[in-house]
Amino acid sequence: MRHDTGIGRRTFLEGAGLAALLGAVGAKSPLSASSLRQLAQVPDHFDFDEIYDRSGTLSTKWDGARRTFGPQVEVGMGIADMDFRAPPCITRAIAERCTHENWGYIDVPPSLTESIVAWERSRHGVEVDPSMVTLHAGVHSALISGYHAFVPPGAPVLMTTPIYNGFYGSQRFARVVAEESPMVQENGRYSIDWDDFQRRIGRANVFLLCNPQNPTGNCWSQEDLLRLGEICLERRVIVFADEIHSDLVPPGARHTPFASLPNRAVVNNSITFRAVSKTFNLPGLKLAWYYSTNPDLLARIRAHTRADLGTLAVIATEAGLREGHTWLDRLLPYLGENHVVAERAIAEDVPLVKYRAAQGTYLAWLDVGGLAERIGARRIAAEETSRGTAVVTPEQVVQRWLAERARIAVSPGHTFGVGGADHMRMNLATRRALVRQAMDNLAEAAARA
Ligand SMILES: Cc1ncc(COP(=O)(O)O)c(C=O)c1O
Repeated sequence: MRHDTGIGRRTFLEGAGLAALLGAVGAKSPLSASSLRQLAQVPDHFDFDEIYDRSGTLSTKWDGARRTFGPQVEVGMGIADMDFRAPPCITRAIAERCTHENWGYIDVPPSLTESIVAWERSRHGVEVDPSMVTLHAGVHSALISGYHAFVPPGAPVLMTTPIYNGFYGSQRFARVVAEESPMVQENGRYSIDWDDFQRRIGRANVFLLCNPQNPTGNCWSQEDLLRLGEICLERRVIVFADEIHSDLVPPGARHTPFASLPNRAVVNNSITFRAVSKTFNLPGLKLAWYYSTNPDLLARIRAHTRADLGTLAVIATEAGLREGHTWLDRLLPYLGENHVVAERAIAEDVPLVKYRAAQGTYLAWLDVGGLAERIGARRIAAEETSRGTAVVTPEQVVQRWLAERARIAVSPGHTFGVGGADHMRMNLATRRALVRQAMDNLAEAAARA
């Protein structure tokens, strides 16, 4: 078994010959003005295999997992962020701004929206009118604005499930209700159950599309999107297209933006929610946007929008949008290969788990039904539920088992709605050595189960 946890970033830096430049900015050493100036000139150097230890930085994925499951956790693979060093263009921009020691209110520059428009054009072929773009502090808060504008309290929002678990929380917050249309699964690929979708849509005001879909990684085809869009238009249901993962589609798959569909009326019936917080790993900074081609929809959601943006979010996002193309182009094949490594390792060494490499996102949706069965997860969950005050699910039992026996932290399937039973979501946005280590740990633990 390989163990590859945190020999420290200094070791890597010396190996990479960057110590002279970055040595002054060790993991926990205080920043001096000169080290900040050095960081502001950090060169374009992309190494996704670099050991970059996030422990002790208030990281949810690492520190949060160890707080919940214990210090034995060797690989944090839960919440959807990445473990890589930030793109150098973003580090440079933030360091440059930090040399100015004043954090008063920011005058958000029009160049931010211009860079959003240029990004959507060059990466996705979507022509967005800058006057139709509205900034927000996050996709969650933007969706909540959308619910307030279009969904009365207690009314349903239609979604195809399994789907991103965070949606349920923001819907509860906005006092709207999830209407779940379970997808059909065949050989690890998901498709829409059209009859079920048609049956449920009559109850909804909004259809929340997740494209690509978290957690399954589905990149919806133009045909599927058009069919969804036409049904929604006919039934007078507005489409909220959450495309936060759209930049993270490795070579070989394709993202189709909802706004690119060849039916003007369908597109006019939608609002797209976007950010590059997944793309460049900036979710801790908080910046997103939404856009629509429909001024009426925009006016309604804007009436519920108040975005207070942080200075560093603005600086970092614009730097990524303007200068982050090469970094992202190098990252995508790396993430794609991580999926292949996980798929192969599971197929060869972990017969109790099934996984087919996702099309998009860095998330792997694992079928752990065999493992759950082997460890008696259903029985344990039922016993614990009958003894305590809270319901314990079999997925929570498997999650805990994986944290204790395989020393990996993943997200339990039941939180992703109907269709999430017997599944775990594993985040592969980390260096390859850690993906391999997680696979070794999983194989070894499962073999002893
Ligand atoms: C599909 C999807 N939407 C929204 C979010 C959250 O976005 P934000 O951090 O901008 O609120 C996530 C985070 O994982 C996500 O996967």
